[in-house]
Amino acid sequence: MPFPIHRMRRLRRVPQLRDLVRETELTPKDFILPVFVCPGRKISKPISTLPGHDHMSADVFVEKCREAEDLGLGGVILFGLPESKDEVGSGAYAEKGVVQRALIEAKKAGVGIPLITDVCLCEYTSHGHCGVLKDNDVDNDATLEILARTAVSQARAGADMVAPSDMMDGRVGAIREALDANGFEHVPIMSYAAKFASVFYGPFREAAGSAPSFGDRKGYQMDPANAREALREMELDLEEGADILMVKPALPFLDVIREAADSFPVPIAAYNVSGEYAMVKAAAEKGWLDEAGAMWESLTAVKRAGASVILTYFALDAARAIADR
Ligand code: PBG
Repeated sequence: MPFPIHRMRRLRRVPQLRDLVRETELTPKDFILPVFVCPGRKISKPISTLPGHDHMSADVFVEKCREAEDLGLGGVILFGLPESKDEVGSGAYAEKGVVQRALIEAKKAGVGIPLITDVCLCEYTSHGHCGVLKDNDVDNDATLEILARTAVSQARAGADMVAPSDMMDGRVGAIREALDANGFEHVPIMSYAAKFASVFYGPFREAAGSAPSFGDRKGYQMDPANAREALREMELDLEEGADILMVKPALPFLDVIREAADSFPVPIAAYNVSGEYAMVKAAAEKGWLDEAGAMWESLTAVKRAGASVILTYFALDAARAIADR
């Protein structure tokens, strides 16, 4: 007879006991802050679809890195808004590209927080697809070389880790090989391994100006219905040399995060994407949801599911909340 011998409420009675038995604890170093860098100086332009986030020039980015570092975040990940776009996304690998300049400036300023770069072409192509086109389709193998060039140029500018998000087959291997051939064998790859074709990227595409001008990304990003296929994607990326495996988005794919953590003995990252952030922000703005509570519960769920690295637009807010406790 379990009751009344067993009473689950005993350990919930006071905050100190609840603290004692809490299984999942968030710390600032769990979080990676996404930032959008743009050309110019002293620019800090609010992004309407991501309240609290700005397009920022390299000098402002350096300040943002300092803030993130002071709060103890695990890293920042850079996305670029180039001056101009073209068919092949050449701005992605330009020596003086917008991300490269920001990296150089931050490293020169002595920023210590890990700087991670998103490796993808969609912010740099005129058509908004994540690779180069052939017959109105993304040409996988021709894209690999451009992605590899991009990763090398980012490492040369100071990236501490590269994170390919394009979902081409073979990109992790191609990037690993190119990094190694150029003396960057110490630069890790965080692969967006299980990246689903999700509507939750909507606010990001507004922010990055990267929505595809025709079609969609279903020909390269995964079908949200497929969890077993996600394991296969992750297995292949590991074989090709990925150091960290990412699941993206986070909350709609907690089962995939759990499976990944149970299946692969490498750090698992999860991207709490723009739409997940925007939903909380919008509901809070209407007074329908407590923002801090929703943030906390979301991030805790992602960590509880098995992610030890969480990319989130809440990174600074969550770290501040931890510092204020
Ligand atoms: C680039 C990229 C995207 C995101 C991260 N890297 C957009 C996309 O694939 O369309 C989305 C991030 C977010 O929604 O917060 N490929």
